[in-house]
Amino acid sequence: MQGVVSYPPGTARQLTMSTLAFIRPVLRPGDRVLDIGCGEGFVLAELASAHEVTGVDIADHRATRLPRFALYDGLRLPFADGSYDVSLLAFVLHHVPNDLKPVLVREARRVSRRAIVVLEDTPRTLLDRIACHLHGRAYRRKVGSTAGFGFYDPARWEAFFAQLELRVVTSTAFSRFRRDWRRPWARTCFVLEPWDGRPRTAGELS
Ligand SMILES: C[S@@+](CC[C@H](N)C(=O)[O-])C[C@H]1O[C@@H](n2cnc3c(N)ncnc32)[C@H](O)[C@@H]1O
Repeated sequence: MQGVVSYPPGTARQLTMSTLAFIRPVLRPGDRVLDIGCGEGFVLAELASAHEVTGVDIADHRATRLPRFALYDGLRLPFADGSYDVSLLAFVLHHVPNDLKPVLVREARRVSRRAIVVLEDTPRTLLDRIACHLHGRAYRRKVGSTAGFGFYDPARWEAFFAQLELRVVTSTAFSRFRRDWRRPWARTCFVLEPWDGRPRTAGELS
């Protein structure tokens, strides 16, 4: 899909650029990219001219055209092992009940050959925690669900990923004002790679 992505008034463009600044450095030419919980789809629309992109979500929030999109059950990704080079989970995992988080992240690991990029609200202060809780609760009400949700701090995420045999390549705290100055909550970008515990060769590390 070529051309300029058109954005509605508001923060959508700024939020998209913020996410792109984290995922673009991980991408190589021609990579196949899966956005799990793609929401409005702007990140994929921006990447579509250089990459084969696919979005999945539990609801259709698309506000832009995407070449490939699928609804799914929120846990089992409808793709074969290693179908994508890089997967993105941007502000999705906190909406997934804690006991189901491992199921979805294992699925992301199964379909991703090289890397998974996770962006998350990672509360550090009491104010962060209150804001995150209100956000999580509002989302549950919006989707008419009483299921749980859960925000972790960076250390808890890192331990969680390690348990799932994902190596944390980088764990980068955002500037609080980077996305939306009206919502200056603590956030972190994790770049993960599937890891089976064996030492990496020099070639794999380059
Ligand atoms: C805060 S929005 C983020 C959307 C997009 N990733 C972004 O960064 O703009 C959360 C998205 O996660 C989706 N979502 C919630 N639970 C999900 C699940 N189990 N699997 C995939 N998407 C899910 C919601 O439908 C929504 O589109």
